[in-house]
Parts: sequence; C-alpha cells; structure tokens
Amino acid sequence: MNKKLLSLVLISGLIVSGVFASGAQESGDSAGKKVAGFVWYNYADTFITSARTVVANEAVNGPVALLSTDSQNDIAMQANNINALFAKKVDYICINNISPNDSASMIQKAKDQNIPILFVNCTSPTEEELASYDKVYHISSAAEQSGWIQGDAVSEYWKAHSDADRNGNGKLDYIMLVGMQGNYDSQMRTDKSIERVVDNGIEVNCLQEMLCDWQRGKAMNQVASVLAANGNDIDAIFANNDDMALGAIEALKASGYLGDGPYIPVVGVDATKVGVQAIEEGTLLATSLNNPVTLGKTIYKVLTLLDEGQPITDETVGATMTGKHIWLDYVAITKDNIEDAAY
Ligand code: BGC
Repeated sequence: MNKKLLSLVLISGLIVSGVFASGAQESGDSAGKKVAGFVWYNYADTFITSARTVVANEAVNGPVALLSTDSQNDIAMQANNINALFAKKVDYICINNISPNDSASMIQKAKDQNIPILFVNCTSPTEEELASYDKVYHISSAAEQSGWIQGDAVSEYWKAHSDADRNGNGKLDYIMLVGMQGNYDSQMRTDKSIERVVDNGIEVNCLQEMLCDWQRGKAMNQVASVLAANGNDIDAIFANNDDMALGAIEALKASGYLGDGPYIPVVGVDATKVGVQAIEEGTLLATSLNNPVTLGKTIYKVLTLLDEGQPITDETVGATMTGKHIWLDYVAITKDNIEDAAY
C-alpha cells in the first residue's frame, strides 16, 4: 500500500472510531455535564493560546465541559478533528475554522445531530449558511476597527514627522504582512488600514504584500529580504498581528534600523504581552487590543446560555449582535495608554 493511501485509511479509521489524530484535551469535569468539542486552528499561535486558556479556565467551574483539539494549521487535521468530535456525539461544536469552503458541510453535520455550532475567531459562514440552521452563531472581533486603528496611527506619524517620507516621493511606501489568505481578520486589517490612510489624505504605494501565516519567523525572514533589496524606500510596515510585527522589528534591528538607526514605524494587532513590551520599548508604534479574555469569555457565555436554554441576544451575551454575528470591539493601544492593554 502506498504511503498516501495508508494515511488515508488510517485517518478514515480514526474518524469512524472518533479518535483524534493529534490528541484531545479535556477541561472541566464532564460527569453529568454536556460537552463542547473545540477545534482550534493552531495551538502554537500566541493569540489562540491565550484565548483557549481562558475558555479552559471558565470550564473548570462552569456548566459545560470541553474537549479541545489542535488542527496544527492543517485543513486535513481540522477535518479529522471535527469528524471525530461529531463521532463522539459532543453536545456543542466550536470551530476556529481555517476552511471557509467547508462551513456549509459542518453546519449540515451539526443540523443532522441537532447540536449548536459556533464559528469563532474566523471567517463567517455566508448569510445563507447562517440562515440554514437556527443553532449556528459566529463570534468574531469587529476586525475593520483594527485596520482603522492601524491606518490612523500611521497617518498621525506621517503628518507629525517631516522626515517620514524616507525617499521623498510624496507617497507613503509600505509593506503589508498578511496573516492568512481568505481569513476575515486578515482581509479586513489589510484593506481597512490602507483605506483609512487614503481617507486621511495620504497617497500610498504598496511596495510588497507578503503572506506570513500569522508567524513571527516568517515575517522576520521576508522583511529581511525586502530590507536588503529596497530598505531606503520603506516608510511603514503594517502587520496583521503582533507576532508578525515583532518579526519585522527583529529584521529591522538586525539590519541597523530602530534604536540609533533610521526609524520605520511598525503597527500590529492583538496587544499580546510581547507586543505591549515592544510599544514600551518604542519599536512598535501602535497595536490594538484584540482581547483573548473577552473572546474566551464570550464563547463560554454563549455555551452557558445555550446550555440553560436562554436566548442569545445583545443583552444576554453582553456584545453587539447583527443577526447571528456576535461582534467584539478593539481598543487602540499606543505608548500613551499601555495600561488599557492589561487583561
Ligand atoms: C489574531 C491573530 C491570530 C489569528 C488566529 C487573529 O484574530 O489577531 O494573532 O493569529 O486570530 O486565527
């Protein structure tokens, strides 16, 4: 049997038997409680680590126990995990989905088993998909806000510093570090940040848009190569999250920028602990708090409400809802209000 066929046979065996190829972690005592199956896209992601820790802590004394799995940023692994959770007949499914094309089939499976399904911190199912089942919800940060915050921070820097136009061409030449192709947060941050700069009356020029998978190491390597090729042209670096912004900062430092060298403003999103340290250090210009505590607690609140048979509304959840979308707000963070990033 060839290797591909063998792994296919193994994975289908695992799915049928409800076994997880990558293991599953339990949180909360499941005795007498309903269980929510979680499919996180990548345990190695800084923001996801914080959010899932919050949900797991909520489950310790909460009414719903958890069974959590890691897709390791791999769509096949995600499919294995979700199928294994359905095979185990969990009572709720929460998915940090990396394959929007599969949303409809996931909703159909939840419908077949008559269990609620929550899409969290990911691209929403379409409005038609959301309407296809009464027990489907989408919980997400209002990602356009984080783009606007980045755009405003860079515009403000540009207007306040006459030397911000490093090559003097009258345009803000920028690099965009993209998190994930086709991901809602990523798309909104990429588009809305630049739209805001333009709305602020600044002409822009995109030097390069680079896909870095939300990862610090990838951002560092890619920025290092752009710096080597046309470092003198870069006026600003936009990163869809703090991890990638920190990778850019590492590359800048290694090439003699920042500190005593030329300054290039870098903006991120999340206000992770390390992101906030970089703001304190003066290497990260601005970020916005994408609060993993709010995300984790909101997810668990929705599970609790569902468990108690309560309605899901703006009032009961404590967040803004449009239809079945539950939106979480960002807070702009600069060196002037670092204390607001505490969670
Ligand atoms: C966060 C990123 C994270 C991504 C994972 C985003 O909301 O800002 O840091 O990598 O979610 O899905």
